[in-house]
Amino acid sequence: MDETIEEQVGGSQKTNGGEEPPLVRMEGITKRFGGLTALNDVALDVDYSEVVGLVGDNGAGKSTLINILAGALDQTQGDIYYKGRKVEIKAPEDAKELGIETVYQDLALADNIDVAGNLFLGRELSKYTLGPLNFLAKRKMSDKAQEILDVLNINFDSMNAKVKNLSGGQRQAIAVARSIYSDPDLVILDEPTAALAVEESERVLELITDLKDQGIAVIFISHTLQEVFKVADRIVILNQGNKVGDLQPNETDMDKVVKLMIGGRYQTNESV
Ligand SMILES: Nc1ncnc2c1ncn2[C@@H]1O[C@H](COP(=O)(O)OP(=O)(O)O)[C@@H](O)[C@H]1O
Ligand SMILES: [Mg+2]
Repeated sequence: MDETIEEQVGGSQKTNGGEEPPLVRMEGITKRFGGLTALNDVALDVDYSEVVGLVGDNGAGKSTLINILAGALDQTQGDIYYKGRKVEIKAPEDAKELGIETVYQDLALADNIDVAGNLFLGRELSKYTLGPLNFLAKRKMSDKAQEILDVLNINFDSMNAKVKNLSGGQRQAIAVARSIYSDPDLVILDEPTAALAVEESERVLELITDLKDQGIAVIFISHTLQEVFKVADRIVILNQGNKVGDLQPNETDMDKVVKLMIGGRYQTNESV
């Protein structure tokens, strides 16, 4: 790694002047899959209400890093601090309990259930579908669903529309809306715009800004640097498992970020 890259990494860890602990601090995170080092001593801070854009070429380690934070993977080495306290995140439930919600690429929606139902999937719904309280519970659910959608400025013609009939952007919106049901501090979005047309992607960017306005921090993974530059307060760049940049959008530009994303490719290994 050359010196300029080293410097940019070194200047990165103090997201709020170093006084208050950040919302999340991942320190010295290494992840090995057998002989493959997917992450090598990576640090990541996320501050309260901060939008962190996480970028890197395919295989750079982005999903692996957020999966560790989300409790879907165990790190080989390294520590995670949440609000200044060291935490063990061993399962998705641990992350959720802390206040970390994750929206995965597959969204995990139930196609044959309506909008409201999907917002409550795996929560109240299962409890309420039995028994005489069903009707009341459904109405309460529907009201709560509308409230969540309103907070994020999401409009559906009908809350009773089956999710399979909605566009990719609308489906993404439901998945994001569902993630804030539990009032999280942080929502992780792994490539939420990957399968969307430009207009729908714009809407997702607005959603990210809405989350931030609600005091929710966001980790936003995207291949499209234009998107990241639009919404991120900070851009973290991974290159073959190494953190090679941690920059404010206004102190860098797309050319520099691309260089960091692909830099050194031919001096290191060929794992991708
Ligand atoms: N479950 C796994 N088993 C083995 N290797 C994996 C696994 N998950 C990811 N990898 C490898 O780790 C590296 C980083 O992958 P990933 O985090 O998915 O990258 P990104 O999300 O940046 O495209 C890649 O080389 C990938 O093949
Ligand atoms: Mg990925």
